[in-house]
Amino acid sequence: MENSPQHIVVLGPGGVGGLIAALASRAGQRVTCLASESTADVLRRDGIAVSSAQFGHFTAPVEADTTLCEPADLVFVTVKATSLEAALERLDPDAIGDALIVPLLNGVDHMTLLRERYSPGQVTGGVIRVEATRPRPGIVEHASSFADIDLASSTTDHARLDEAAATLSAIGLGARVLDDEAQMLWAKLSFLGPFALSTTVNRAPIGVVRTEHADELEAMIDEAALVSYAECGARFDERARQLADALGDAAKSSMLRDAEAGRPTEIDAIGGALLRAGERHGIDTPVIRDVMTRLQPQQSS
Ligand SMILES: NC(=O)c1ccc[n+]([C@@H]2O[C@H](COP(=O)([O-])OP(=O)(O)OC[C@H]3O[C@@H](n4cnc5c(N)ncnc54)[C@H](OP(=O)(O)O)[C@@H]3O)[C@@H](O)[C@H]2O)c1
Repeated sequence: MENSPQHIVVLGPGGVGGLIAALASRAGQRVTCLASESTADVLRRDGIAVSSAQFGHFTAPVEADTTLCEPADLVFVTVKATSLEAALERLDPDAIGDALIVPLLNGVDHMTLLRERYSPGQVTGGVIRVEATRPRPGIVEHASSFADIDLASSTTDHARLDEAAATLSAIGLGARVLDDEAQMLWAKLSFLGPFALSTTVNRAPIGVVRTEHADELEAMIDEAALVSYAECGARFDERARQLADALGDAAKSSMLRDAEAGRPTEIDAIGGALLRAGERHGIDTPVIRDVMTRLQPQQSS
């Protein structure tokens, strides 16, 4: 039983999802990627080719379809927030069986959407630390020397998370089960929000932000800390500052890279989530609000 392959489904086989799918396939799991017809065609024909300093260069075969037709054991949701609602149409609640659903999107608001659509007992929070891109369908470039997933859930049995973490470890990923879902998600957003918003609004890498827009970055970290404390009882401003200080000068957020490439950005899932949570608790976030206002024209351009 322990060694029988699991059916692992990846909804959105891009940088994050493609890496997980390829690693799982290489480790002997049955993998189905859910994607658009054109991407599914490429994946069925060519598999997923990974280029990674950590995992090496390899190509792994995967099954691919546009909707889920057979029950799964684990479902990774790895689309960007801007595509989430459309992508979930591919994942019929009646088709997933008893699968554990693991979203790895940045932000926090997707958790509510997923728990409204699927049984809450099947939905866990997840966070991934990785740098991976999908230059074109079926190709994954994994640039970081790490690929680590944290799981925590306010609605799922802990034993299921332990099993999922064991599967992730077995395919080569770092995996931990944490106790507090809200703190796990807010720890990430408390850093990512200020980093993504400051680099994107200034169209500059972190080195320029640290020297020319340090007050704005600091203020957003402070505001995010207040909101985080209200949401989950913990603030992560010290950690956010350390992470922002540790980045190389040239580091850009994926939000900035998306904006530069003219792709939709996750501004609502990241900055919007901070604003909405602040409003829920009556916490003013003037600097984040101002940055979001300045970003709106960039969004529609
Ligand atoms: N990449 C990272 O290093 C990283 C690190 C931490 C967290 N994250 C978070 O992880 C999430 C995914 O990011 P990513 O960088 O992996 O994104 P990505 O490379 O753009 O991949 C997204 C994938 O979703 C697919 N997709 C889009 N709309 C779809 C739909 N309607 N149905 C099915 N598939 C659809 C895309 O398909 P096509 O290939 O057909 O376009 C693409 O394969 C984001 O929330 C991001 O913030 C990313």
